[in-house]
Amino acid sequence: MELRQLGTRGPWVSPIGLGSTKFGRLEGVKYPQAFTLPSDGQLTDLLALAKEWGINLVDTAPAYGNSEARIGALIGRDDHWRMATKVGETFVDGRSHFDFSPAAIRASVEHSRRLLRRDVLDIVLLHMPDDDVAIMQDGAAITMLLELREQGLITAVGASTKNLAAGLMAVEHCDLVMITLNPSDQSQRPVLAAARNAGKGILIKKPLDSGYHSDVDVALASLVREPGVGSVVVGTIDPVHLAGNCAAVQRALADG
Ligand SMILES: NC(=O)c1ccc[n+]([C@@H]2O[C@H](COP(=O)([O-])OP(=O)(O)OC[C@H]3O[C@@H](n4cnc5c(N)ncnc54)[C@H](OP(=O)(O)O)[C@@H]3O)[C@@H](O)[C@H]2O)c1
Repeated sequence: MELRQLGTRGPWVSPIGLGSTKFGRLEGVKYPQAFTLPSDGQLTDLLALAKEWGINLVDTAPAYGNSEARIGALIGRDDHWRMATKVGETFVDGRSHFDFSPAAIRASVEHSRRLLRRDVLDIVLLHMPDDDVAIMQDGAAITMLLELREQGLITAVGASTKNLAAGLMAVEHCDLVMITLNPSDQSQRPVLAAARNAGKGILIKKPLDSGYHSDVDVALASLVREPGVGSVVVGTIDPVHLAGNCAAVQRALADG
């Protein structure tokens, strides 16, 4: 798969990325089907299959249970992989906790560097709660991320946003933005347009509406062809789904 640069500062990534929520977290997720966490062997095979298909981006977060630790142990030292992780949210004792203070952000980045076994993190995003506009308006969190980028600890910074106003502020101040876009939720299109016009990187989360959208091929085909989209991050722990998703993306891109 031909790689695309995320904006002007971000890494070059595959048009389909691998979402890793289900690598490490069972509680407090809203997927349609119950699941069990993959074993190390299953995860090793899944990541090898993704690499074979040309996927080079995995998206993770401290809030995804032990997803970061598992990814770091299995592929942290493999230069093929680009990694997106997040700051601001942790998930402990069945609950999300949010802390966007500069000290918490610095500590989270240090922790992710250790777990992911990377000196420089490719992408770090603010992992936004519902009141993301207030966090962007406050500015301290993004200022801290930009400082860590200037210190050489992160290549590109951004925010995984919920509300339009926060997404638009992220476009203005960051290198990239992660937004929800799928056939049932088109509400973030103004952020997509703003990011595209500003030459900022765009990552798509929940492209299959977290598993509630069934016309997978059509959804992925339209998203990877959407101008400006860098990578469509699909969550899966099923190798058959992974291969099918990659094949659908390849067909869509070959058709132009
Ligand atoms: N706030 C944030 O920053 C945020 C929020 C949500 C998501 N994300 C990121 O975005 C990623 C993707 O979002 P998501 O996982 O919520 O939703 P998604 O990618 O829209 O959907 C994932 C669900 O679809 C299923 N699926 C995948 N391929 C399939 C196929 N070919 N046929 C049928 N079902 C299929 C998966 O089940 P199987 O495992 O059985 O394939 C999984 O249950 C996450 O993993 C995470 O990395 C970030």
